[in-house]
Amino acid sequence: MATIGIFDSGSGGLSVYRELVKLLPRERYIYYSDNAHCPYGEKTALYIQRRARFITEFLLDKGADIIVVACNTATAAAIATLRAEYPDVPFVGMEPAVKPAALGTRTGVIGVLATAGTLKGSKYLKTRGLYADDVRVVEHVGQGFVELVENGILDGPEAESTVRASLQPLLDQGADIIVLGCTHYPFLRPVIERIAGPGVQVIDPAPAVARQTLRLLQQHGVPVGTGTFSVQLHTSGDPLALERIFAICSNG
Ligand code: DGL
Repeated sequence: MATIGIFDSGSGGLSVYRELVKLLPRERYIYYSDNAHCPYGEKTALYIQRRARFITEFLLDKGADIIVVACNTATAAAIATLRAEYPDVPFVGMEPAVKPAALGTRTGVIGVLATAGTLKGSKYLKTRGLYADDVRVVEHVGQGFVELVENGILDGPEAESTVRASLQPLLDQGADIIVLGCTHYPFLRPVIERIAGPGVQVIDPAPAVARQTLRLLQQHGVPVGTGTFSVQLHTSGDPLALERIFAICSNG
C-alpha cells in the first residue's frame, strides 16, 4: 500500500485528491491544507518555497512515499527546489494543460485561468512558448475564485458574477477551450461551463496528474492496490473549516 501525501494552499488540492482516490482507491492519503497561508497566488516564490519545505517535512514524517504538489502556484514556485533538496522523494506537480488545449482548439485561441504566481512562472512561460506559433494563448487570473471555494460558495449569484468577470474577457477574445490552471477552479466548473456555453471545452489536468502519480509509484517500486483506504486531514488553519469543505469538495 502506498502512502500518498498531498498539499495545497487550501482545499483546491481536493480536486486532485478525488481523482487520485478514483484511480487508487486502496491507498493511505495524507492531505495538508495550508489555510493559514492561503492564498499563495500573490505570495513570493521564496515564501512559498519555505512553506513547501515545511509541509514536505511534515508529510515525510507521516510516512509519505510520494508527494503530490496539488497546487499550480506551489509547483511553479517550489517544485524544482523540492526535487533538488529531496532527490530520493518522488514529487508530482501541476501544470496548466496548454498542450491538449493547443491540440484541440478550433478557433486557434485558448484561454488559461490561473493565479498570478502561476502565470508568471518560468515553467508556464516555457510551455506557452512552445505552442505560441500555432495558437494564441490568452490569460486571466481567476480573481476571487480561491476565496469563493474556501468559503464553500460553489454556485449561485455571487459565484456567477465573480466567475463571469474573469472568464468573459477570455471568451470575448475567441477562446473555445478554457484551461483550469489552479486546483481550486474545478470546483467552479459547473458555473464556468454554464457561462462559457456549449461550444467551449473546459480542461482540468487532475485526472492526468492522478495517472502520473500511479506511474511514478510504479517506477519507484511502491506497491499499490494492496491496502485499505484511509485519509488524514491536516491544516495550518482551522480544522473544522477544513472538515466542512472536505465534506463538500472531496466527492464527485
Ligand atoms: N490551488 C492553488 C493553485 O493551484 C493556489 C491558489 C492560491 O492559493 O492562490 O494554484
